[in-house]
Amino acid sequence: MRIGVLTGGGDCPGLNAVIRAIVRKGERIYGDELVGFLDAWDGVMDRRTTALTVESMRGTLPRGGTVLGTRRGSPFDHPDGVERVAATVSDLGLDGIIVIGGNGSLTVASKLFDDHQIPVIGVPKTIDNDIEGTDITFGFNTAVQIATDAIDRLHTTAESHDRVMVVEVMGRDSGWIATEAGIAGGAAVVLIPEIPFDVGQVCERIIRRHERGRYASIVVVAEGAQPIAGTMEVAERSIDRFGHARLGGIGSIIAEEIRERTGFDTRPVLLGHVQRGGTPTAFDRVLSTRFGVAAIDAAHGRHWGEMVAARGREVIPVPLSEAVGRTRQVDMTVYRDVAEVFFA
Ligand code: F6P
Repeated sequence: MRIGVLTGGGDCPGLNAVIRAIVRKGERIYGDELVGFLDAWDGVMDRRTTALTVESMRGTLPRGGTVLGTRRGSPFDHPDGVERVAATVSDLGLDGIIVIGGNGSLTVASKLFDDHQIPVIGVPKTIDNDIEGTDITFGFNTAVQIATDAIDRLHTTAESHDRVMVVEVMGRDSGWIATEAGIAGGAAVVLIPEIPFDVGQVCERIIRRHERGRYASIVVVAEGAQPIAGTMEVAERSIDRFGHARLGGIGSIIAEEIRERTGFDTRPVLLGHVQRGGTPTAFDRVLSTRFGVAAIDAAHGRHWGEMVAARGREVIPVPLSEAVGRTRQVDMTVYRDVAEVFFA
């Protein structure tokens, strides 16, 4: 077979491990030819390609980022985008394209398959862990580990100065990173988009904690967390050119509010893209490798229009339509029954 591969959306630890696994099984076991598209869908539309071989992927397993380059954007943003994608598939003699991406790229892939019969297979990628249809996405474990390491470091400086540290983590409209890093890092409070917060209640918790003699507190805030309407002023979210809300900054607003309401010395920490950079954890290397192998197997099984997904101990193909159009929210049993037990 001749299979195209692209990485779309934000970069994520484990992308190279997925590509490497596709290439390894594709070339060595199936005798496939793998064509990499540069810079996501732009590379498909403009026919900017690179040969992906076992040789060219050597040494990439632990490397963060993506050797193919990535960006946001979709063929549907261009009047002739879909025709250009279809022409590339046909002119390059491709049997299909493996799309390694998050909600945005998988939605594009699903529409290309459903409405234009372009053969695609998805691989769920995102540090946010917010894709439906799979128990977990690759990159998430690495982001949680990075955030946890940061929280561990913040504990000692917070304790030395009797400070409240407000740590903002990524995750868009789901609080997976916040919840898991909050549990792993021993946070006093975790605020997630799924549950609007009352900053007054957050302050009460921290004050109670201080009354018990604990003068340092870590508050973990997901970037998409929002106050209960009318409880705190926050600026309207602006929208970027791809229609996504611009997030980031809520941690600083909350830190200032806590400082004003409690008088405690408070500092905001914005972890930002550090959470996406660098080498994947062993867990993510294994998951990415399993996803890559499953994706090339799915191509040979002609599971077009499907996505490889982790279900329990297995990795199996599931319809892309099960994954797109919604966001996977935090498992409330983990938040309510576990994380909350440790809140101040
Ligand atoms: O979806 C991954 C993610 O890192 C989100 O957690 C974050 O909101 C967003 O991407 C940041 O996007 P950008 O890299 O475009 O600033």
